[in-house]
Amino acid sequence: MAPAGPWARCGCEHGLMAQFEIRPAEAGDAEAMAELFALVARERVGIAAEPPVDIGERAAVFARSVGESVVAVADGQIIGMIHIQVSRHGFGDLGMLVDHAWRGRGVGSALMAAAISWARIRGLHKLCLEVFAHNAAAIALYRKCGFLEEGRRRQQYRRASGERWDSIVMGLAL
Ligand SMILES: CC(C)(COP(=O)(O)OP(=O)(O)OC[C@H]1O[C@@H](n2cnc3c(N)ncnc32)[C@H](O)[C@@H]1OP(=O)(O)O)[C@@H](O)C(=O)NCCC(=O)NCCS
Repeated sequence: MAPAGPWARCGCEHGLMAQFEIRPAEAGDAEAMAELFALVARERVGIAAEPPVDIGERAAVFARSVGESVVAVADGQIIGMIHIQVSRHGFGDLGMLVDHAWRGRGVGSALMAAAISWARIRGLHKLCLEVFAHNAAAIALYRKCGFLEEGRRRQQYRRASGERWDSIVMGLAL
């Protein structure tokens, strides 16, 4: 990780095939971020959004909040992102995702490390998130990064299938 900020080039411990860069999102990334978001929404497993995702609308949302996002890039393609929605009360709400083909290679960990550094630099006192109770990979990542479980929201999310999914609220004091 570069000493001047939370941005990094990664790859050593996960092998040559896992070369990627972590950097702040830019306005020009918004469309690609929206495409990746839509791709992950199509999985209907990890994130709350489900198809159909309006790419233009989602890109506009990302463009408006580009200063609060960090992306992972490999070969010029956005392969992951993390967003920190800053509250006026001093905490940040996190959301993240990684391209299916890149999971399990350290991209999520690198994005989270960058988000934590970003939040500390901005003087936030806490990061928070909500994760589906069945999302073992995400929960393992959050625990590894020091997040603690703060509660369970039962049958919180009604899915397109009609199922109602529990979520876990987690937090990290900075
Ligand atoms: C959750 C997600 C962001 C993790 O990203 P990732 O790049 O795969 O994460 P990493 O490779 O850095 O792995 C981080 C840790 O997660 C855990 N992990 C990763 N994949 C796992 C799996 N399939 N099962 C259990 N734990 C897993 C491990 O503890 C791993 O740490 P380690 O490699 O030091 O053992 C990614 O799976 C994803 O985008 N999922 C779909 C969208 C989503 O669920 N977003 C989160 C919404 S709350």
